Amino acid sequence: MVAELARMRDRMVSELATSGQPVSAAVTGALRVVPRHLFLPGIAPELAYRDDAIVTRRGPDGQPTSSSSQPMIMAIMLDQLQLAPGQRVLEIGAGTGYNAALMKHLVGADGTVVTVDLDPEVAAEAAAHLAVAGYPEVTVVAADGADGYPDGAPYDRIIATVGVSDLAPAWLAQLAPGGRIVVPLDLRGSQRSVAFERDPAGGWRSRSVVPCGFMRMRGTLAGPERTRVTGDYPELALMLPDGRPLDVTVLGRALDEPAAERFTRVLAGPAQLFDGLGLWLALNEPRMGVLSETGQPRAAALARAPGRIRDQYVTAGIFEPGSFAVLARPAGDHDRDAHPAERTRRGRTAAPPFQLSVLGYGPDGDILAAQLAALLEAWEAAGRPGTRNFRILAYPRTTEDASGPAAGPGESVIERPHTTFVVAPLDPS
Ligand SMILES: C[S@@+](CC[C@H](N)C(=O)[O-])C[C@H]1O[C@@H](n2cnc3c(N)ncnc32)[C@H](O)[C@@H]1O
Repeated sequence: MVAELARMRDRMVSELATSGQPVSAAVTGALRVVPRHLFLPGIAPELAYRDDAIVTRRGPDGQPTSSSSQPMIMAIMLDQLQLAPGQRVLEIGAGTGYNAALMKHLVGADGTVVTVDLDPEVAAEAAAHLAVAGYPEVTVVAADGADGYPDGAPYDRIIATVGVSDLAPAWLAQLAPGGRIVVPLDLRGSQRSVAFERDPAGGWRSRSVVPCGFMRMRGTLAGPERTRVTGDYPELALMLPDGRPLDVTVLGRALDEPAAERFTRVLAGPAQLFDGLGLWLALNEPRMGVLSETGQPRAAALARAPGRIRDQYVTAGIFEPGSFAVLARPAGDHDRDAHPAERTRRGRTAAPPFQLSVLGYGPDGDILAAQLAALLEAWEAAGRPGTRNFRILAYPRTTEDASGPAAGPGESVIERPHTTFVVAPLDPS
């Protein structure tokens, strides 16, 4: 059985290798050693060693509140973190404790790992898993991670494994000089894992930006975004990054009416939607939202959704009271592919992109469809920038009401309670 479990871990690592995303030897070494199945008791080992996120807890609304993240994104983020033996590390979001164990393996006997979870039961289980798996030295704390963990500071590295929309002042204060912090940062509904370091010119500068998708942080640093489910279509969820109180039942009913369709010349697929195109739309259109349906879609617009994450059909668009416009793949194209992670598992190459359409619903659906189509054409005209073509600067606020720098040409400014983020395309030179 021990040898079989080791083979499963090796297979999981080989799957990661075929995804095309490079992962360092140190991180793949940790994935080969740390027994993920011991952090997921009750889950068959064959499932624990697939490149899948596994939800371990849900809230009363059915939304996930804890999970073991997808190994591929964990590996990417561990590489973003650049761990080395002997370092002191703080993690926000202990979950199952698996990532903390990987980090303990990477920092070695002389390094320390502290991991914090808001949910005391989750924290207790993480501590138990870590003890069983042979990592009892990891400190597990049940608390709101927004406060960091001052008793263990300063840290060489801080990582959040839960989606954040701001940088907590405590994290930056507890990071040692030369330290690095990696967070899944919400940029108006488009989430990116960002590695920040102090910028000699002031503030914090991104050193690496990659797409990711984490559940959102709860507690005092919870962001403004809200996910609402419509009464008529309980499987249909609308996520609005600014939490606007739109009547989702009215929007859900508009979905039953015929759509105003606009064809564009833009060729794109899920890879672009979850990467540069999604970020472009989020940065350039404050009314953006993400619409998804779980299971076989009942809504025609969702059956044509350009993105698939396992059994979830995902599209994005502009939402207003009573009307909206969303991205769609060509009619009849809906069974062709799935989320990039799924394709890698099946060893298939990336599905070819398709010609994006825009579907408008409600009284102003055609106007919103024209506006969304124009944004797609603008992304094309800008050279189809991907996530890696953006840099993010973060300026902590020094006083309650001070705002940060104004937007320069091509820049987007996102104001948060503790930080002003400035997102800009990288200079191509
Ligand atoms: C995706 S899971 C983390 C996965 C984990 N790193 C692992 O390896 O299994 C996100 C976790 O963040 C926790 N969380 C949410 N808000 C939090 C907060 N304010 N402080 C600390 N933890 C929080 C949740 O309870 C959940 O367990």
